[in-house]
Amino acid sequence: MTLIEKIQNLFPRPADIPAALLSDIPCIQKGYLVNGEIRVWDGPRQEVLSPVWVAGDASPTPFYIGEYPLLTEAQAFQALDAAVDAYDHGRGVWPTLSVVERIEHMEQFVFRMIEAKERVVRFLMWEVGKSLQDSQKEFDRTIQYINDTLAALKDLDRISSRFTIEEGIIGQIRRAPLGVVLCMGPFNYPLNETFTTLIPALVMGNSVILKPPKHGALLYAPLMAAFRDVFPKGVINIIFGEGRKVIPPLMASGKINVLGLIGTSKTANALKKLHPYPNRLRCVLGLEAKNPAIVLESADLDLAIRECVLGCLSFNGQRCTALKIIFVAAGIADAFLERLAVAVNALPFGMPWQEGVFVTPVAEKGKTDYLRELMSDAVTKGARVVNPAGGTVCGSFFFPAILYPVHPDMRVYHEEQFGPVIPVLPFDRIDTPIAYMINSSYGQQVSIFGSDPDEMARLIDPLVNQVCRVNINSQCQRGPDTFPFTGRKDSAEGTLSVSDALRVFSIRTLVAAKQTELNKQIITRIVRDHKSKFLATDFIL
Ligand code: G3H
Repeated sequence: MTLIEKIQNLFPRPADIPAALLSDIPCIQKGYLVNGEIRVWDGPRQEVLSPVWVAGDASPTPFYIGEYPLLTEAQAFQALDAAVDAYDHGRGVWPTLSVVERIEHMEQFVFRMIEAKERVVRFLMWEVGKSLQDSQKEFDRTIQYINDTLAALKDLDRISSRFTIEEGIIGQIRRAPLGVVLCMGPFNYPLNETFTTLIPALVMGNSVILKPPKHGALLYAPLMAAFRDVFPKGVINIIFGEGRKVIPPLMASGKINVLGLIGTSKTANALKKLHPYPNRLRCVLGLEAKNPAIVLESADLDLAIRECVLGCLSFNGQRCTALKIIFVAAGIADAFLERLAVAVNALPFGMPWQEGVFVTPVAEKGKTDYLRELMSDAVTKGARVVNPAGGTVCGSFFFPAILYPVHPDMRVYHEEQFGPVIPVLPFDRIDTPIAYMINSSYGQQVSIFGSDPDEMARLIDPLVNQVCRVNINSQCQRGPDTFPFTGRKDSAEGTLSVSDALRVFSIRTLVAAKQTELNKQIITRIVRDHKSKFLATDFIL
C-alpha cells in the first residue's frame, strides 16, 4: 500500500476496536455538581463524537461516544450562588480552614482521583484523540502537579509561620484567598491544564466554578463523586454546556473574582469586558502562541529535525507551545527540508490506542477543512507542499504537511494553525526571524538551533525580551511544571508554575501591631492558645 492508500484506510471498523476500550462507551453523562450535590439534568444534551471515525461500507463517519448536559443560565447561576455562599465573603468553612486541613482534603482527592484513572484516561483518549500513552502521561503529570503543589504550599506556609518586626511594628504576613474563581481549560489538555488552575485555586481557599472544555467533558464524569465527597458543599461546582451561553452571565454578575482561562485571547477579552467591576477581577490566562524555531547554519541537523518534528507535531501540533513556524538559514534549507520530509513521512500514524502511534486524528470539527484552506492559500501564493502526501485528508485525519517557502502574504505565516501544518521559510539575515517575533501578536517561546556559542549568545539577549522562554537546541514546551510558564502580548496574563500558581490565586494579607506591651501580650496569648488560624506560628512538618 502507498502512504496515501494507508491514510485513506486508517479508520477501523467498529468490530476492530479493542473491546476493553469500549466499556462505558457511550457514556450518557447527566450529572452536574452544584452545592455539594450531583444533580440530574433531564434537559437537552450535547452529543459527543470522537475524533476517531469508524469505517463502514461508505465513507468513514464520526464515532458516537456519549452525551453531556447542555445546562442553561439558570443552572450556571445556581453554581454561582453555591460558590458565593461557600466563600461567604471569606467567612466560609473552606476559606477559613487551616492550610494543613485544606491539604488533607486535597490528599484525599488525589487518592480518589487515582482510583478513577483508568476511566479518565480512556475518556481523554476518546474525546480528544490523544494517544493512549500520552493520555496516561497527562493523567500522571496531573497527579504529580497536585502533589508538587501541596509540597510548595507547605513551603509557603512554613515561610509565613513567623513574625516580622520592622520599625517597631510586628507583622505576620500570609497569603489569603481571593473569592470565587471561574476555571476553564482547553481541549488539548482538558485534564492537566484545567487542573493547573483548579488545584491552586482550591487549595488557596477559593471556591470554584469549573466548566470543562467542549472536547474533554466526559472525563469529568468519573471525578464528580470524588469532588462532591471530599470538599465542603459549594466549594467546587462543575457545570456543562455551551460556553457562550453559560459563561457570559456569570461574568456579567460581577461576582467572579478570578477568571482562570486557558483558551483564546478573543474569548478572554470578550469575557473581561462583561465584568462590571474590572478592578475586582483578576485574570490568569494562558492564550495563543505562534512559537518560531530558528535553525542556524551551524545547527546539528539531526538534532534540529528531531526536535522540530516533536515541537511541530506532538499531539498533531495541537499545543499552545507547539513550534508553528520554522525559519531556516538559506544555506542549509534544502538539506533541512529533505530530511524533515523523510522524518515526517516515517511518523507512525493511526488510532490513539495503537502502540507507538504519533499522528492521530485532529480533535475539532471542521479542522481538516481549515488546514486545507491554509495550505491552498499558501500554495496559491507560491509555496509548495514538500512531502507529497502532506495534507492528505481522510475524515478527521490530516497527514502533516510541510509548506515551503512561506512568506508574510500567506495566512499560515500569521495564523496559529494549531494542527499538523509546518510552515518553513528561509532567511539570509537573522533580522528576518527577529522582525517576525517583534511584529507577532504573540510572545510565548522560541527555539534556537545552532552550535556556535557567540552566535547563540547574540540571539539569546534580544530574544528573552521578546518571549518568556528561549529554548536552546530543543523544542518549546511548558514543563517542567516548576518552571515559570507565561507569555508576552496576547499569549498570557499571569504566570503559572507549581509555586507561581499559588500566588496568582491568592493575595498577601497581614496582621500588624505596634510593638507595645499590650499588643505583645495579646499576640502571645493568641498564638500560645491557638486561638487563630492566621495569627499562628505552627510549622508544617
Ligand atoms: O497547550 C499548551 C500546553 O501548556 C503545552 O504543554 O508543552 O507540556 O505540551 P506542553
